[in-house]
Amino acid sequence: MVEQRIENPRVGSSILPLATISSGRRIQARRELQFRPSFPRERSRVVHHDQPLLLFLAEQPGAMIDQPTSYRDALQDSNQDVDRFEREVLLAHAVERNRAWLWSHLDEPIAPESLQRYQKFVEKRAAGHPVAYLLGYREFYGREFEVSPAVLIPRPETELLVDLAISLLPDKNTRVVDVGTGSGAIGLTLAAERPDWRVALSDLSEAALRIAGRNRDALGLARVELFHCDLLNGLPERRFDLVISNPPYIAEGDPHLDAGDLRFEPGIALSSGHDGLDLIKPLIVQACSVLVPGGWLLLEHGHDQAEAVRSLLDKQGFDSVRSWTDLAAIERVSGGQASP
Ligand SMILES: C[S@@+](CC[C@H](N)C(=O)[O-])C[C@H]1O[C@@H](n2cnc3c(N)ncnc32)[C@H](O)[C@@H]1O
Repeated sequence: MVEQRIENPRVGSSILPLATISSGRRIQARRELQFRPSFPRERSRVVHHDQPLLLFLAEQPGAMIDQPTSYRDALQDSNQDVDRFEREVLLAHAVERNRAWLWSHLDEPIAPESLQRYQKFVEKRAAGHPVAYLLGYREFYGREFEVSPAVLIPRPETELLVDLAISLLPDKNTRVVDVGTGSGAIGLTLAAERPDWRVALSDLSEAALRIAGRNRDALGLARVELFHCDLLNGLPERRFDLVISNPPYIAEGDPHLDAGDLRFEPGIALSSGHDGLDLIKPLIVQACSVLVPGGWLLLEHGHDQAEAVRSLLDKQGFDSVRSWTDLAAIERVSGGQASP
């Protein structure tokens, strides 16, 4: 809750929760202010920017404090640095409803605890925290995935990887491993879209695997197996028709790591080596020994890594090596088929 401390000798010291003052009352207060050019500033000390309005309000604290705040006021009175859409999403989340509900109840009063919860969310968002971590979930391929700062927030670009797998592989009896599964977004989506596929998820992070496990259970995909391992090392002996991965591929020291959502995401999910290829290189080598002849390796990578990844695949003897572009026409995924 945004609290403004006012120390005014006329009314004593009071705390006015600014956000609990309806915008109607504020407008009225501002109008009245126009007719009251002088305020007892010399006798008051206000620790806030909106000094005259708060002084005016301080003279009638009871009336103002009792005024219930509506959802509309909560949205209008909160930090405008946070985009309006995001504020609506966070407010709906704070009251455990969706935006459609919020829109049909805008003028109803909000419970003080919900208001407080909402204001905490907005403060965190203003400080840069990703919306997905505040909500605790992110939608991917039409399904909700639990996320926390232990996992990468699934990105829309990664849906290309899923589309490719579905179009390149037969719909029956395909054995898949999603390496570096994080929240499980890729592998669990494939398992949900293709009920006949046998899907395994692997990750080096135990915290990530716990979240992937909860997502698996929430999606009712009990048949999907989870493995704690380093790339493909330590997977129980088996053969796959598809090795799919969105590995960490950002170069260490890349300035993007210090901007936006990336600041809050786990380092283990983001960067690998001076050129971002430290995990892609061994993964390409290891994939060769688990893929059946003709099986696919599909890798997401950085916007400027397609050529390097294709050349690594060629060097390892993969066939049909090529890259695919995302909706922004950026080569985002490269892959190839294991040679017979
Ligand atoms: C870019 S994130 C991808 C997460 C998820 N697949 C997605 O697309 O949203 C990379 C994942 O690789 C995992 N990882 C990092 N190093 C690994 C390794 N050596 N072996 C297995 N997984 C690893 C990280 O924990 C992280 O979950």
